[in-house]
Formats: sequence, C-alpha cells, structure tokens
Amino acid sequence: MTTMLITNIGELTTNVGSPDGDRFGTLHDAAVLVDGGRIAWVGSADAAPGADEIVHAGGRAVIPGFVDSHSHLVFGGDRAAEFEARMAGQKYAAGGIRSTVAATRAASDDELRARLRGFLDEMLAQGTTTVEIKSGYGLSVADEERLVRLAAEVTPEVTFLGAHVVPAEYADRADDYVDLVTGPMLDACAPHSKWVDVFCETGAFSVEQSRRVLEAGVAKGLTPRLHASQLGPGDGVRLAVELGAASIDHGTYLTDDDIAAIAASDTVLTLLPGVEFSTRQPYPDARRLIDAGVTVALACDTNPGSSFTSSMPFCIAIAVRDMGMTPAEAVWAATAGGARALRRDDVGVITVGARADLVLLTAPTRIHLAYRPGVPLVDQVWKDGVAVF
Ligand code: NIG
Ligand code: FE
Repeated sequence: MTTMLITNIGELTTNVGSPDGDRFGTLHDAAVLVDGGRIAWVGSADAAPGADEIVHAGGRAVIPGFVDSHSHLVFGGDRAAEFEARMAGQKYAAGGIRSTVAATRAASDDELRARLRGFLDEMLAQGTTTVEIKSGYGLSVADEERLVRLAAEVTPEVTFLGAHVVPAEYADRADDYVDLVTGPMLDACAPHSKWVDVFCETGAFSVEQSRRVLEAGVAKGLTPRLHASQLGPGDGVRLAVELGAASIDHGTYLTDDDIAAIAASDTVLTLLPGVEFSTRQPYPDARRLIDAGVTVALACDTNPGSSFTSSMPFCIAIAVRDMGMTPAEAVWAATAGGARALRRDDVGVITVGARADLVLLTAPTRIHLAYRPGVPLVDQVWKDGVAVF
C-alpha cells in the first residue's frame, strides 16, 4: 500500500478542537499523511514523515470532504417549469412531488442509476465525499424498494422516505397509505436502509402519522430523522426530539420552545439553504440557533422541487451571507456537522484513523468558500485516500 503526504498546507481545517479553544482545529503550515485510505499522521509540515507520493499544496487550504447529510437523488424528470413559475411569484407547494413520482415510476432502473451517478460525479467535483440519499419518489412498495436499492449501490447512508407525500391513488385515504408504509413497504425497504424519515408538515403527514412511521421504522432497526417546520411551524420538532432522531431537517420556522428543545437534545438541526433560495422563503437564523446551543449541519437537499443545487460551497456562501454563520462555522456545519447528523465519527474530521476524505482548495483559506461565491474553488478531492477529482 503506497503512502501519500499532502504538505505545505497553508490552512488545514481538522475539526478537532484544540486545547487553546479553536473548535475548528485550524493548523497552519501543516501536512497530512495518508496510508491505506485512512489518515495516518497530521502535524506541522516541518516535522512531516516521508511518503511514497508527495502532494505540494503550495500554501493553499485543505478541509475535510463535505458530508451532505440530506439529498433526494433518485428520481426521473425535473421541474424547471415549476421553478420558473415560482420565480414569477407562485408559492412552493409540496404537491409538486407527485409529478416527480410519475416521472420516477416511468423511468427504468438503468435510467435512474445513470442519473444518480451523474449527480454523485457533480458532487465529488464540488468536494462532497459522503452523501445521504432518501427514497420518496416511488410511493409504492415496488418503486420505493427500487429507490432504496439503487441508493444503496452508491452509499451506506440510505433513508427510507415512503412517507414523503400521500400518492394520488391514496388521496383521501392517508391512514391507509400509512398502513402500507409501515407494513409491506417498510418490510421491503428496511433491508436496504439505515434511516427512516417522514415529511411532517401540513399537506404531507400529521404528527400522529409521522409517529407511526418512525416508530415502525425503529422497530425494524432503522434510526429516525425528520423533515419538519419547512413550510410553517409544527409539532414535528418535539416528536423528533422525543424519539431521539439523529436530525431534524429544514427548521425554517422554529419557535423559541422548539429551539430550546433541540438544544437540550442530541438531535442535530440540518439547515438547507438551497431550499429557501429556490422557494423564496426566509432564511433561518443560524446565529440564533448556534448561540442557543443547537448543533447545526448544512446540507444541499438536492431534489427537483425545492432545491436543485448539489453545491455545498453555494450553501456555505448563503449560510455566511444570510444566516449569520461565520465561514468557519459554515465549513464545520458542512463537514463535521453533517457527520454528526449521520452519527459518523470517521468522516468530517482530519485526524489519525479517520477516512482520508480531503479537499484541496484553490484558495489560501476556507473563508474564500463564502467570499468567492460561485467560483469553482475545489482543486483536488480524495475519497478514502484515492484521488477522485
Ligand atoms: O426536502 N420537503 C419535502 N421534500 C423535499 C422536496 C421535494 C420536492 O419538492 O420534490 C424537500 O424539500
Ligand atoms: Fe428533503
């Protein structure tokens, strides 16, 4: 097994808090040794060990690969016309999901697979080395099984989201649909999944329906996460905290009580700025959340309806410009924060034993990710120590 040393790193973000109080674990003039796909050594470039291959960073910044903990990448078609109408003043409504369900059901496995792999390639090129993928555009036993199976071909972070919306054929029979989701659909999907999720919102599933789905998933060995408070305030947050969900996602409309409940829990709040950008909703106040003690992650929520970006740098730029995060906090949320939302300690950090998922930026500091929005600053990407971009 050959070793690789990345040296002359001007600014290395390790996300390993140091005794001097820098929770981002920032090192200057640093080096990282990679061996067997893992980080083998981290320290000052002056003291670096030798290696088979040397990469000179030339004073540029290195960060952990992005951990995008929320995406919906297995679908057919797109909804460009819906986006265009929204930019002309129409409101986002979850009902658009059904048109993607029709296009997804009509697509073959190979068509969905090719699309999925295309999204993963575009994500790698933007520095994302870990991605969570949800089902939710199948909404029948056979189609949901197909989506989680295809997702499991490319990531261990697969989420069963059979309770995304009530499909047209179950209109006015939502509880019957929940019976299907918690029965045969869960049976078919659980073997391919790690997580269970529900869209808990007016127009999708009630808190009681959401509880049924999450509890059924837990009984099958899945861990809950929840879409909540995306379109308005609701009780989903309290349900997620009560059930020990790994993450509450969206949180666009949170009350003070919601924030206090999340802060007192182990549940991460995953903010999805691409959604507010693309639906013209107000950006959540990340500053207020962080100051209240909430652990915040950032993710893209790549999907054809509410957020069709796959760019973590874009989300970081919005979080800094419009949500009150510092650049260091936003990069932490997009790396270590995502890892917490997925309950992973082997990604999102640059420390001995972690996966060698690394991004070399064309920039002297991570600040440039927000300072130079829209500029492709990802120069090289390694996943498990292998150059993938
Ligand atoms: O995370 N909130 C529900 N699901 C997606 C949107 C899906 C769609 O509009 O197609 C989301 O925003
Ligand atoms: Fe989502």
